Amino acid sequence: MTTSPMHDICARGPVIPVLTVDDPARAEPLARALVEGGLRVLEITLRTDTALEAIGIIARRVPDAIVGAGTLRTPEDVSRAAEAGARFGVSPGLTPALLARAQALDLPFMPGVATPSEAMAAAEHGYRLLKFFPAETCGGAAALSAWAAPLAGLGFCPTGGIGPRNASDYLRLANVTCIGGSWVAPQARIRAGDWSAIRECAAAAAALGAPR
Ligand code: 3PG
Repeated sequence: MTTSPMHDICARGPVIPVLTVDDPARAEPLARALVEGGLRVLEITLRTDTALEAIGIIARRVPDAIVGAGTLRTPEDVSRAAEAGARFGVSPGLTPALLARAQALDLPFMPGVATPSEAMAAAEHGYRLLKFFPAETCGGAAALSAWAAPLAGLGFCPTGGIGPRNASDYLRLANVTCIGGSWVAPQARIRAGDWSAIRECAAAAAALGAPR
């Protein structure tokens, strides 16, 4: 697969924690626990009012983390994420306006796809590393395996319904660059400030496979 800044980021995987932070005070200890566990690439979803603040805090205070923004749905989301300090962006889908804004800002970006047609549309815009979402309900690892030959040259970061039980089913596929998921740091555990459990879970996730 051709490399790109987004590929270089994902290749540090094998797991990108998908994080929902509703208290900015939790952002720094959360990021530190994940980095200490061995996961440096962190996705903060824009699903809370404080997500952008959390991204800024991590960008400034946890230099070993590579923090990005997820759940980007509009061009304005992309701009706000970049201004906050996100080093990459992730979306559950793709629209021409979204892709144009990411390209205008030169922000490494991973659009989301659920079908071969969407993957082909992303490739037409120059995106070759794509979020496969929601992975488990869209056919899981078997679907991605079936996409490998007809969609040769495209790489995927499946997310949605992935956890310790099925992570290796995805990571063994040649067209999977990394996987994402909230299981490493579920919202309840973040709210509880259970950093040692998150660190341990991150270490287990980091050990799942050698990054490609
Ligand atoms: C995402 O945005 O990638 C998903 O919400 C993560 O899915 P999960 O919570 O099932 O891991």
